[in-house]
Amino acid sequence: MTLYADSLKALTVSDLAAMKQAGEKISCLTAYDASFSALLDKAGIDIILIGDSLGMVIQGHNSTLPVTIDDMAYHSRSVAGARKRAFLITDLPFASYATPEQALANAARLMQAGAAQMVKLEGAKTEVIQFLVEQGIPVCGHLGLLPQSVNRLGGYKVQGRDEPQARQIVADAEQIEQAGASLLVLECVPAALAAEISRRLSIPVIGIGAGIDCDGQVLVLYDMLNISTGKRPRFSKDFMAEAGSIEEAVRNYHQAVKSAQFPGPEHSY
Ligand code: KIV
Repeated sequence: MTLYADSLKALTVSDLAAMKQAGEKISCLTAYDASFSALLDKAGIDIILIGDSLGMVIQGHNSTLPVTIDDMAYHSRSVAGARKRAFLITDLPFASYATPEQALANAARLMQAGAAQMVKLEGAKTEVIQFLVEQGIPVCGHLGLLPQSVNRLGGYKVQGRDEPQARQIVADAEQIEQAGASLLVLECVPAALAAEISRRLSIPVIGIGAGIDCDGQVLVLYDMLNISTGKRPRFSKDFMAEAGSIEEAVRNYHQAVKSAQFPGPEHSY
């Protein structure tokens, strides 16, 4: 079988869908600049996420809330020029998609100035998602822990532990798929809940702190390299601990995702 990981052509949204169909795990890491973009791409990482986590790991804020659309477009463009194969997803930052029209203007900016192939937004914003998809903009949903809603949630906590909340997340995931999203990120939810959602949806589900049964995995690059200034979350792993170089750490992560060795139970809820 030819793995998509072995192909050198630029990945498309159809390739990601085909990977789920074929049962091939999808590897994803965040990056914010050209040097790391090229390094991740060479290591075979399937998706590079220009996450608004840059507000914390690059800008030094204690949340993602201060990040602007200008910041996202700048970092997206920096990453885009340096990669050949990896698929690019860029975050719409806090308060940049309150209405379909605002979302369209900002998503267009990320695709035109930032060369994004897809935009990611947090929460069950089905009206916004449907509108963007109708305008030809591929969308990635994001459920579970929503960092842009940290003040409403009262902290960075596991979501969906009780049954009513778990059912709400399942219903939201199904509505996001129906609205036309091509991908879903599930952050910090119990592994059993993420497994159920990954089974129910036909679009790929990328987990972070969501257990081994998601269709793919994402981590914040600086957490898995253990160079973040903050505390590394329990669901992340220090891939530098057993690697002689950053390249080796990223390759080891990619292999661990592809072979379903990461995340282990110690990284899951
Ligand atoms: O901003 C980001 O890096 C993200 C990941 C945590 C999924 O959204």
